[in-house]
Amino acid sequence: MLDTSRFDLSRLRSFTKWMHAGERVQAEEARSARVVCIASGKGGTGKSILASNLAVLRAKRGERVLLVDWDAGLANAHLLLGLSPRYDLGHILDDQVDAEGALVEGPEGIRLLSGGVGRHALANPTRRELDKLFKALLPLEQRFDLMIIDHGAGLQYSTVAHLAATSTLIVVTNHEVTALSDAYALYKRAHMVNPNLRTGVVVNRVPGETDAQGAWERFKAASLRFLGTAPEFIGWVPADEAVGRSVQVRVPVSLAEPESRAARAFANIASWGPIDHARTTSAFYDKARRALR
Ligand SMILES: Nc1ncnc2c1ncn2[C@@H]1O[C@H](COP(=O)(O)OP(=O)(O)O)[C@@H](O)[C@H]1O
Ligand SMILES: [Mg+2]
Repeated sequence: MLDTSRFDLSRLRSFTKWMHAGERVQAEEARSARVVCIASGKGGTGKSILASNLAVLRAKRGERVLLVDWDAGLANAHLLLGLSPRYDLGHILDDQVDAEGALVEGPEGIRLLSGGVGRHALANPTRRELDKLFKALLPLEQRFDLMIIDHGAGLQYSTVAHLAATSTLIVVTNHEVTALSDAYALYKRAHMVNPNLRTGVVVNRVPGETDAQGAWERFKAASLRFLGTAPEFIGWVPADEAVGRSVQVRVPVSLAEPESRAARAFANIASWGPIDHARTTSAFYDKARRALR
């Protein structure tokens, strides 16, 4: 029998409180968005095509998705989604609108935060400007299940700060040697600033499986040889005219021609397991701000 006289009720109460506080913390963590960064070494490999298709495919599953076009200065995600946003990151930087006010709704209910075309400040942001933007974007993490961040090519300062903070990265490359070697350089840098990063590789716009596999084998061999570790191969996307047509009609190919070969490849990529677990230990944009210091 439990001797209730010796049972310290106040301790039980504080224990219960502690338990509930733990649950609260867990619930809060569960509420903040998973973050997946999409980057490449070389330009034009298909980051924005992948980002926009992933966004609508994950939204179709019922997730609240935010696509952030951080190819600041040369943003084009809005074009791929058929949107003409009134505001972009530049307006947030200039205090003309807050982050929430800058969002536009796109297909499948996704939200887009646009990059801004031809804005010098965004193409070469200072540390202070980046810090201001990261701070401004922080509240958005509570509003979404998944944030997909589409970067510009290469190792810009803003990209490196994101890579230091994210748990999950998708590197988009083509099968040509130049694209592969730039992709490897990006992976190497990402791995340096964030050794715990989970990275997947997509080989886009390839003629066929042999080229894709060959490209992946080369990437993997270089990574293992020089870094002692390699990313995961998520999959490959064929060069498909359906993609070009979808750009013309400004609807992601996954919606415009869901039976096309490219769309089927994007559907497989959208099921990459780490997207379901892409959480950071603390708020993503807090981590990104710390990375700037
Ligand atoms: N799998 C593909 N098949 C055919 N064309 C593609 C494919 N992926 C991308 N493209 C073309 O390449 C162009 C550049 O892609 P984009 O995603 O804007 O590159 P990035 O964002 O990496 O600069 C797109 O406008 C599209 O026409
Ligand atoms: Mg792009």
